[in-house]
Amino acid sequence: MKKQLAVILGAAMSLCSGSVAAQDAMTRFIDELMGRMTLEEKLGQLNQQPSDEISTGPVVGSNASRLAAEGKLGSIFNIRDVEKIHALQKVAVEQSRLGIPILFGMDVIHGYQTIFPLPLGMACTWDMEAIREAAHIAAVEASANGVAWTFSPMVDIALDARWGRQAEGAGEDPYLGCQVAAAMVKGYQGDVFSPQGVGIMACVKHFALYGAAEAGLDYNTVDMSHLRMYNQYFPPYKAAVEAGAGSVMSSFNIVDGIPATANRWLLTDVLRRQWGFKGMVVTDYASIHEMTSHGLGSLKDNAARALLAGTDMDMCANGFIGTLQQSLEEGKVTMDDIDRACRHVLEAKYRLGLFTNPYRFGSKAQAAKVTYCEEHRAAARRITAESFVLLKNGTQDSPLLPLQPQGTIALIGPLIDTRTDITGSWSMAQDATRYTTLREGFQQALAGKATLLCAQGCNLIDNARTQEAVAHGHACEPIPFVDSDAALAEAIGIAQKADVIICAMGECAWMNGEGTSRSNLELYPPQRHLLAALAETGKPVVLLNFAGRATVLTWESQHVDAIMNVWYGSECADALCDVLFGRVSPSGRLTVSMPHASGQEPLYYNHLPTGRPVPDGTTDYRVWSPNYLDAVQGPLYPFGYGLTYSRFSYSDIRLSSTTMSADGSITAAITLTNTGEREATEVVQLYIHDKVASISRPVKELKDFQRVTLQAGESRDVEFHITADKLKFYNYDLDYVLEPGDFEVMVGPNSRDVKKTLIRVE
Ligand code: NOJ
Repeated sequence: MKKQLAVILGAAMSLCSGSVAAQDAMTRFIDELMGRMTLEEKLGQLNQQPSDEISTGPVVGSNASRLAAEGKLGSIFNIRDVEKIHALQKVAVEQSRLGIPILFGMDVIHGYQTIFPLPLGMACTWDMEAIREAAHIAAVEASANGVAWTFSPMVDIALDARWGRQAEGAGEDPYLGCQVAAAMVKGYQGDVFSPQGVGIMACVKHFALYGAAEAGLDYNTVDMSHLRMYNQYFPPYKAAVEAGAGSVMSSFNIVDGIPATANRWLLTDVLRRQWGFKGMVVTDYASIHEMTSHGLGSLKDNAARALLAGTDMDMCANGFIGTLQQSLEEGKVTMDDIDRACRHVLEAKYRLGLFTNPYRFGSKAQAAKVTYCEEHRAAARRITAESFVLLKNGTQDSPLLPLQPQGTIALIGPLIDTRTDITGSWSMAQDATRYTTLREGFQQALAGKATLLCAQGCNLIDNARTQEAVAHGHACEPIPFVDSDAALAEAIGIAQKADVIICAMGECAWMNGEGTSRSNLELYPPQRHLLAALAETGKPVVLLNFAGRATVLTWESQHVDAIMNVWYGSECADALCDVLFGRVSPSGRLTVSMPHASGQEPLYYNHLPTGRPVPDGTTDYRVWSPNYLDAVQGPLYPFGYGLTYSRFSYSDIRLSSTTMSADGSITAAITLTNTGEREATEVVQLYIHDKVASISRPVKELKDFQRVTLQAGESRDVEFHITADKLKFYNYDLDYVLEPGDFEVMVGPNSRDVKKTLIRVE
């Protein structure tokens, strides 16, 4: 029987996948296979279990080997070892009745063993080619290590920095979110759906609106108008689907009162009917089970609901495998419903070539060759350096950075010696023994040139117990809990001997990512206390702010000379030295607005206007106005903001015409000049505001951008083409329309400091 399968398959796979003939061959193959599957075997394909070695959720036993032998394990995730993966595959292929291969997944979120900055940091590069390249490197390493499927990209728009998972997405902007989503899908998948191709299947998550959890509290209620969904939150998911993502993961939260897991409108009407998605839908971790806590009744009822809504695979809840047979007998679901889900799972396996070669993913030799290889490390170092966002740099006339690698340099802070935290959260395939700590990186960069003095200086937080934790799949070595007075004295001692102080502070790996909501976004008290003492020495201080979200740096912006945001990565130490000592000019730009105060969250630049607008930067309280009694209006550092080691000037905007027809286009151009003394990269940003529309429209929206590198003194014209797609929106009836009228066109280095002009669409 297995031989017969192989023959049909051979013919099928020889056809270029994606063509009509290949599609027909796949359908014939799966029809034939499903014709021989029992109900139990079909339900087995819908069943996904976690590995028992890496945990990313409440522990559930997996019994993987037994399930595989019985043909009841469609997929398993988070196994790190290629031999273990192949051994389990062998059980499925050789011991189960039909020999259907298992689909091995993993949370490969920002790299496998070569680890890039957190996704939020990757977005700060505004470099789509770098983002694609990083995702592809992750795929090359993961696939060599047996992984066929990643649960990434996370494309949830996240406006509220209290939500720890802001770290895992591209930030607050739908347009940028779409570009990043597409780049990541393409990077991961490469040409994995063709026979010899390299890549892994992407999984767009978390569908949908997970980033809108009330109060930034993870897993919390989401309640939102459909207008907002379509205009602001849906676009990145749709872009990922259009880029060809093979799978989608539903989210934990409710949407219109119904958990996304079982939301038929979302999973079928929007995803499949409106967007034409043809791949596989998997739930998030045990979310069918969690529907009971949402107040929706029994596991059995919820498993049936999830299936009927359009879910194909049940992650960890044992709802499909455990209850769907009974629901079928009771007439609550039909065989067609089960067949549909089973077909989607089998199609994913077929398209990934697993029926032709169940061991296609994973080879010890290849893994040894590519995992954390020199080439990948060099790419990660380069891209990590691109992600840093320089927020403050002395004064315009007297910048502090870049530093000269000379004299005495003090490196201080609780993050200077950690090897496990340097990669940030969600780094489950990390091999920390291979990574460079900040101290080691600086020692190497300064050897023979400057004296480096180091001290931890303070505790990470005020609580010894929470210094050690698991950061989403990888254990973190505890950062030593020290006597604060002695640590402070040691730090001040070395600071006084130094010419410049560099502080590595902020969040360690487990402080952002899933389940890490914060109500206060300021630097933790022991770290702030140390920073204040160091600032008081009168020596120049550079703060390296490690973060996975927008944080509050108001005090720091007033007391510290230079601030740079750092988003982790296995090559972070070397990349930091590249930038701090001037080999590379920083080019990252924020993709989240950084507030003056935590209470401003959710804070985002593309908000709707109120009837009583208050300009950003307003400091005085105005009665009857939507500003705070106790905070400056708007962000401290706006979306799109970031400095470099040079300066750029923008000319006024030149338009090819001030009027345009609905099917026409206008070119908006500026001349950009590097007025500084060094080569540097600018991210030129185009924003548009629809001045009068049938619904209230955002005060401005990013519509395009270009990264431009110029030599000192060089000028270049930068052009943007404005066409209908940059002006359209979903109206009250959810029709995607262009409404004629006046539009403000803005170009600038960030969302605040823009040049403006007006166009009219007739
Ligand atoms: C739960 C998280 O929400 C999701 O992002 C992740 O992929 C799964 N756990 C699997 O680890």
